[in-house]
This record gives sequence, structure tokens and C-alpha cells, in this order.
Amino acid sequence: MIADYQNAPILLAGGRVIDPANGRDGVFDLLIANGEIKAIDRNIPAETLADGARVIPADGMVVSPGFIDIHAHLREPGYEYKETIATGAAAAARGGFTTICAMPNTDPAIDNAAVVDYVTSRAATVPARVRVIGCVTKQRAGRELADMEELLTAGVVAFSDDGDPVYDAGLMRLALTYSRDLGVPISNHCEDHELCPCGVMAEGWVSSRLGLAGIPAVAEEAMVARDISLAELTGGRLHLAHLSSAGSVALVRQAKERGIAVTAEVCPHHLLLTDAWALGGKGDPNVAAGPMAYDTYTKVYPPLRTDADVAACVAGLADGTIDCVATDHAPHELVSKECTYHDAAFGISVLETALGTLMSAVHNGNVSLPTMIERLTTGPAGVLGNGLSQYAALTPGTPADLTLFDPNAAWTVDVNQFASMGRNTPLNGVELRGRVAATMVAGRVVFEEPALLNKGDVA
Ligand code: NCD
Repeated sequence: MIADYQNAPILLAGGRVIDPANGRDGVFDLLIANGEIKAIDRNIPAETLADGARVIPADGMVVSPGFIDIHAHLREPGYEYKETIATGAAAAARGGFTTICAMPNTDPAIDNAAVVDYVTSRAATVPARVRVIGCVTKQRAGRELADMEELLTAGVVAFSDDGDPVYDAGLMRLALTYSRDLGVPISNHCEDHELCPCGVMAEGWVSSRLGLAGIPAVAEEAMVARDISLAELTGGRLHLAHLSSAGSVALVRQAKERGIAVTAEVCPHHLLLTDAWALGGKGDPNVAAGPMAYDTYTKVYPPLRTDADVAACVAGLADGTIDCVATDHAPHELVSKECTYHDAAFGISVLETALGTLMSAVHNGNVSLPTMIERLTTGPAGVLGNGLSQYAALTPGTPADLTLFDPNAAWTVDVNQFASMGRNTPLNGVELRGRVAATMVAGRVVFEEPALLNKGDVA
């Protein structure tokens, strides 16, 4: 966690401030001092600032609360060759995320207070706020519940065995029952691998053409349906991680209509990419693949699916069926992707491409910009509760966690520029529109893009 501290005041001048928590959307000046948002006004004259204050012209840019990611794999402890908390936090800063939640599929898994303490201490000086998610079951083995109370006391903000589902319905029932009393959600990775023991991509015409074992959408939907029933039974706090299919979105919509307490997230890649990307032509099904007849960088849990699934996920995000975007940032080392599709690891490095990917849905007119920002700020803060809402609003007197971005800037993804150690993305070389110009945590600039901020000045 970043400590609030004294810093030279910063005036963000003339940006479009979009702050869903406060219902604000308009051109404002925003003054930051002592780590806090000091003032938001139509006009804060630069002459009124203390000497040494920095003025950042923000015309044409959007100023929003810092993005909150409730699903990131930071790999520490145990897999520091894939990512560390420090490199993951640097990637978050480049991506406009000011708070990230670390998933517990580490080695050792985060299933007791000592590991929570370790992660928390490693996160003390990194350029993002890091919150910790604890395991549902001991060692994520799915046999016995972890000591949830111990984990909660140590500071976890949610429970998840992500990477694997909680298969045992009885254990899931128990976990949901406890979640109700503990006030912390269970985030389940809904995917029944019994339906697809060797599956590596979505089951469909692309998997048939490539001769790869498929994962049917029902592998996700069957468990989503089970979990919704268990949430209804227990009154527990169910959160559905990385939903990817039209059927899942429909199930959540029905559940919410029936008043069941369920929340859900979607990932940027499931809002843009389809299984056709596995062919290696960056989504063009007519383009032949390179030397390998597929792109292993598209391999991810849950798998990329069809256009109809993408459209349903986008629509669900737009209408509020889906509460938030979460990255499922899953960095991997080179060799685990430069291999056969079957051998390749599941996962995409997402933090640094998330905004550009999400902006496609905004530029296409399918999600409004304020709604997208809501799903990146108050949406995820609301899923977790746990006091994150103070970081999801641009309210004077609260910590200055914010993101400045150019919604129209076109840029080409270059994994060599990533701060993340995980360069595993099928978007490498792809042009996206929408780029982070600066990220601030507690009033400190933790990332800035000189190409977009070249007008910065000292008063
Ligand atoms: C995640 C990982 O690598 O930790 N991989 C992924 O494909 N999303 C785990 C997971 O969510 O399955």
C-alpha cells in the first residue's frame, strides 16, 4: 500500500472529469495537494497555486478515479519468474489501475495469515495499492475450507480458489454461508473441467479446424447456475469471476431479476477477442497462421468464444448485469507460451492493454464512456466493499487516486514496452485507441506518458 505523503501540488487543468460516484461529468480543473483531492472547480487559476506547483493541461483528456482491478495474478510468492508484486504494480500504473487485488494461486497459496502478511509487506512500497484475496480451501485443493476468519483478520478482501473452481458443492455452500456473516464475497472461477478434461480453447468450428480439444460454454454455465442456486439458498455473497459466455450473462440477469445477491465481472479480452484469434490472424479468420498453425497467446481460462458471446458480455456490462471489469492479468514467462497449444499455459497479460481494449466497446457505441468508467471504479469497489469506495470517487478530502487518459489516442501494443514481466498477449502489434497519460496514487504520479503529457509545466 502507498502511504499518503507530502507532494508538490498538481493542477489538472481543463480535463473532462468523469466521476460516476459523484454523478459528475464535465470540464473541470482539479487540484491535488498533500496526497488528497483539494478542489474541483470550473476554474482554478494557476496563479493562485503555491510555488513549485505543477500544471498539467488536460484538455482533450479524461480525468477519472483510478481504476480498481479485483482480479490480478501477481505471482508472488513462488512464481517470481512470471511476475513480482513490484512489476505487476508497475504494469497496473501503466494501465491506469491504482488498486489491484492479488489472487492467491501462488506457491505457497495464500491460505493463511502468514502468507497474507508476506504479500502485504512485499506490496508496501510498490506504485499501486495492493489488496489480497485469500483461498477458499486449504492449498486451493478443494478438500477443506481455509480458515476464513484468520484470513479476514489478516486483511483479505475476498476469497477465491481462482485458477480452479470450488468443485465440491457442499464446500461452496459452506463458504457462501460464512461469506454472508464475514461480509466478504466468494469469487468463483466457474469452469467444470470434467466436461472438457483436455480442453484448451472454446469448443466450436475453430477448435475443430485446428484439431484442438474444445471447452464447451456449458462448462462455465453449469457451474454458474449451481452457484446462483447456492447463493439463493445461503444468502451468501457470490461473485462470479471472468464470465465469458452469453448463457452465463443470461443466468446472472435472471438471478438479479429474482433478487438473488450475485455480482459478476468480465475481462477486457472477452469483450473484444473471439476464438477466431486462435487461428493466428489477429481475429481475421481468412488469414493463415504463422509458422505455428495457431496463436498460443490466445490460450486463456475461460476461453475466447464467439461474436455472440462477446456481444452478450458487452451488453451485460452496459446494462449493469455485469457489475465490473476485472483484468484477470495472468502473466507468464516466454517458454510457457512459445510451445504447442496443448502445452501452453492459460493466461493473458492484461493490465497494460485493458483500457485500449475496453475503449473499443466505447468507440463502437456499445458502452458509454461514463458507464465504462463506472465499471472500472465504483463497480469493482462495490463488489468488494471493504472501504475501497474512498478510492473510487474524486471527492475533495479523499486520497487522490486518479487516472488521466486520452480516449482517442491511437497506439500500437508493443510488449517490449511492458512493465509487466508477462509479455503474453495476442494484442502485440495491434493498434488500440485510448491510452493512459498519467496515473496517480495518493497524489503521487506513479506513471506518466511523456508523449501525451508534453505540455506539462511548472507554475
Ligand atoms: C490464470 C493464471 O494464469 O493464474 N489463468 C488464466 O488463464 N486466466 C488462472 C485462471 O484464472 O485460470
